[in-house]
Amino acid sequence: MTETRDVALPDTSELYYPDPALVEQSNVMAYARSKGFNSYDELYQWTISHREEFWADMASQLEWFKPWDKVLDDSNKPFYQWFVGGKTNIVYNAIDRHLKTWRKNKLALIWEGEDGSQRTYSYYQLNYEVSRIANVLKSMGVKKGDIVTIYMPRIPELMFSMLACAKIGAAHSVVYGGFSEAALADRLADAKSKVLITADGGYMRGKVVELKKIVNEALSRTPTVQTCLVFRHTNHGAPMEQGRDFWMHDLLGLPIANGHCPTEEMDAEDMLFILYTSGTTGKPKGVVHTHGGYMVGTYTTLKFVFDIKDEDRYWCAADPGWITGHSFIVYAPLINGATSFMYEGAPNYPYPDRWWSMVAKHGITILYTAPTAIRGLMRFGDLWPSRHDLSTLRLLGSVGEPINPEAWKWFYEKIGHGRCPIMDTWWQTETGHFMITPTPAVPLKPGSATRPFLGIEADVVHEDGSPCAPDEDGLLVIKNPWPGMMRTILNDPQRYVEGYWQKVPPYYAAGDSARKDKDGYIWVIGRLDDVIKVSGYRLGTAEVESALVSHPAVAEAAAIGLPHEVKGNAIHAFVILRAGYEPSHDLEEKLRAHVGHELGPIARPDSITFVTSLPKTRSGKIMRRVLRARALGLPEGDVSTLEE
Ligand code: WTA
Repeated sequence: MTETRDVALPDTSELYYPDPALVEQSNVMAYARSKGFNSYDELYQWTISHREEFWADMASQLEWFKPWDKVLDDSNKPFYQWFVGGKTNIVYNAIDRHLKTWRKNKLALIWEGEDGSQRTYSYYQLNYEVSRIANVLKSMGVKKGDIVTIYMPRIPELMFSMLACAKIGAAHSVVYGGFSEAALADRLADAKSKVLITADGGYMRGKVVELKKIVNEALSRTPTVQTCLVFRHTNHGAPMEQGRDFWMHDLLGLPIANGHCPTEEMDAEDMLFILYTSGTTGKPKGVVHTHGGYMVGTYTTLKFVFDIKDEDRYWCAADPGWITGHSFIVYAPLINGATSFMYEGAPNYPYPDRWWSMVAKHGITILYTAPTAIRGLMRFGDLWPSRHDLSTLRLLGSVGEPINPEAWKWFYEKIGHGRCPIMDTWWQTETGHFMITPTPAVPLKPGSATRPFLGIEADVVHEDGSPCAPDEDGLLVIKNPWPGMMRTILNDPQRYVEGYWQKVPPYYAAGDSARKDKDGYIWVIGRLDDVIKVSGYRLGTAEVESALVSHPAVAEAAAIGLPHEVKGNAIHAFVILRAGYEPSHDLEEKLRAHVGHELGPIARPDSITFVTSLPKTRSGKIMRRVLRARALGLPEGDVSTLEE
């Protein structure tokens, strides 16, 4: 398989038309008909000319303690506010609302551990578990407005803990369980969390990942945490510190941890969570999302894109610790009253058909994953999926990076048997929910996220904001506000304004390059900033570089992303050693391990090259673009500012 997306655009004329029966029965066409439209395109046009009416229409399908006074307040751009004056709580719509109907008996979650163990939770039971944790948090002094950090393996308690925070009005900050102590410590310090929820460990490829040990190291680096709540999962004897650490199973046994806890009334604009993501500098950005708009946006996009119905068994195979998990494992499926599936371990454990066997075993109808996972499983050959009955599947999905047409076609043919359209959803931590995406009513082009979602206007433009010609490379922008948009960056509103709204004013600049073809289909090319997508995970070159220079042997470092067959991109680093250190294979291995230890295994560079100088601008900025061009044997482009 060749990596083509840096060089050429795939065939933009190839169209896959959806099955008319699927279109006919889809949620989105039912909505179109209810509005008096016969086609998706007519509906789309109406949502653009009646944007606020459309979002208000969707919001009114949910429950509010008090209705909003104004759908959109744009008086203080770019600090947009949605459903102003409205009172709600996303958990009320994700859980409480269903308890008043037959759905209280419906399965909310089916979970399978890597060892094959299984747990299921009805909506009724979900409420019980969440309420008990919420009561424990309250008894530990957690209040409305606090930020609780969560660092957990992929187990149901991760979801319950997030919901428990939101239920009592605290914001959560989930740190992906694959991150190491430095990353966790930085995020704890920025959020000033007093309470951390974690687990003793998780399972990956049959081995225990000792999360609590990492937590202890992180807590020795940052002083804010007073209480650490620990779920028992691996039961391997995690190190606990008296007075600070508490076993959750002990606390959940106390009378205070009963199954009744009122859901706090929240202002639509109150903070629901922060989620750290990588940007251009080494300091991760704490992206802020709120209860009201995020609730409406995630609910609407999942309902129409993945066409969620009561009969579905929906599996989003992401990690809840990333935005995809927040929006499309935790919140949107529950708000839609869906049955979700969650799996803890590795896709190829113990064999490369683990995923396919679970699709068959649990009768999964919708599978939403990432190109890197598809490419990873495709590598093992067609025999593995062919052994399993995948006939329950009706929709597939992809997210995180552009999907190369080879992977798209394999997914479509070998997993979907040519019956299941692929929803290639483009969006970001910052956007909260899908922005450019097909629905089951949109013809597909392999490799394109197709067109903007209802109510969204996206375009590809030059730096001055003028539209690009068809197939011309440009900047991807969103032209109007949307409900689930980030509200700010925690502790750094200026970075929000400059980073997103002052690049191509008055538009929201996504930081991606893209092309739009003559049919209006958008083809995302990749990031324009110093962000590398490794296996769909977003990492900043600056984070990798600061991890490297924290090693005593390293004087200076530069990290770049280069195409990788499975991971999409892999990190390659260039290092200048301090006097007294000599390049060696052994040192390369040590430095790679050091980055893995500091940031997490996903950030470990594939290679480290020892150099004596790095290409820099006269002002001292490393020209990663030049390093990349050299590594790929491409022209170096404009090097007039190069200092060498
Ligand atoms: C990339 C993940 C092409 C893009 C939800 C974006 C995609 C970044 C797609 C956000 C897609 C995400 N096609 N590229 N379908 N989805 N991206 O914040 O570069 O982890 O800017 O959010 O992923 O990454 P994030």
